[in-house]
Amino acid sequence: MDLQDYLDMKAEDIDKSLFRTYGTVTGELDRASAHLLLAGGKRLRPAVVMLAADAIGKGRSRDVMPAALALEVTHTFTLIHDDIMDGDEARRGVATVHAQWDQATAILAGDVLYAQAFELLCKSDAGDLEKVRAVVMLARTCAEICQGQHMDIAFASRQDVTEIEYIDMVSKKTGALYAAAASIGGILAGGNAVQTKALFDWGLNSGIAFQIQDDLIDLVASAETSGKDRASDLREGKQTLIAIKAREHGVDLAGYRKETLTDAEINAAIVALEGAGVLDEVHEAAARRVHVARKSLANLPESEARQHLSEITEYFVSRGF
Ligand code: IPE
Ligand code: IPE
Ligand code: MG
Ligand code: MG
Ligand code: MG
Repeated sequence: MDLQDYLDMKAEDIDKSLFRTYGTVTGELDRASAHLLLAGGKRLRPAVVMLAADAIGKGRSRDVMPAALALEVTHTFTLIHDDIMDGDEARRGVATVHAQWDQATAILAGDVLYAQAFELLCKSDAGDLEKVRAVVMLARTCAEICQGQHMDIAFASRQDVTEIEYIDMVSKKTGALYAAAASIGGILAGGNAVQTKALFDWGLNSGIAFQIQDDLIDLVASAETSGKDRASDLREGKQTLIAIKAREHGVDLAGYRKETLTDAEINAAIVALEGAGVLDEVHEAAARRVHVARKSLANLPESEARQHLSEITEYFVSRGF
């Protein structure tokens, strides 16, 4: 089966399970929690959980379905809160939770999902010790994401953020959840220490590449394609790798930090960044991470799932336009 067919099949499985649990909720807060979960999404983190489990033992993905759901629910909790922090109005092609309800409801809707993720994780078909290790991994990851998100916000008021600091920030806000997805799949499927470390490292570097690509998508892709507000990072003065390299090349993005940007203004920024070679350098940085991520997979037995993990890393940096 090719990667796209695999991802489509897993996304359908995840969608069905999510609709079973979240499709019938009636209370206002539960509806706010379910809103983005039911709006779609690429379902990449649950796919990674399942691929990692299959890479340890063929067919083990069936047993880790609740953990896969837990990762998607965790991810969606972070999105609801991220949209408040970033002041964004659209996500997955629908209104963000705080825009459709209000900020207090969105905070609580995210908190509900945060708690439910841990309950789901424990429903996996795995040994108790493995489940405790998975819970510890997810708990640490959530704290790490908060650290990364705090850095993301703090960096926006600085003009001297380095590439090293950026990598640290995205390792935490995005890499950590992919690392957790891969290693939790491996832990629950009974992987040994070397294998789960390989999966963790693969997820961390793939997640960094994923976020670099997300920053490019924010700037270049239309809102229709991404389902999100376009150029949110530019308007908010986010210290993405694009912004850091723009500064290095003398491209001034300060004028774009304002409430609204027209398509013509965004296109002018893209032209300036392309002309200075910034976008090429950012693509190259993502490609280097893909290379590093793939190397970790050598510590896993050869399998179709391992091959898919390798291909998904490439997909992370080619998606979205
Ligand atoms: C968006 O993640 C948040 C980031 C870490 C950049 P995705 O691009 O995976 O969003 P969905 O789940 O497909 O909506
Ligand atoms: C968000 O990064 C990462 C998390 C949700 C923790 P972004 O703020 O770039 O994500 P998008 O672009 O809104 O999806
Ligand atoms: Mg955001
Ligand atoms: Mg953000
Ligand atoms: Mg983004």
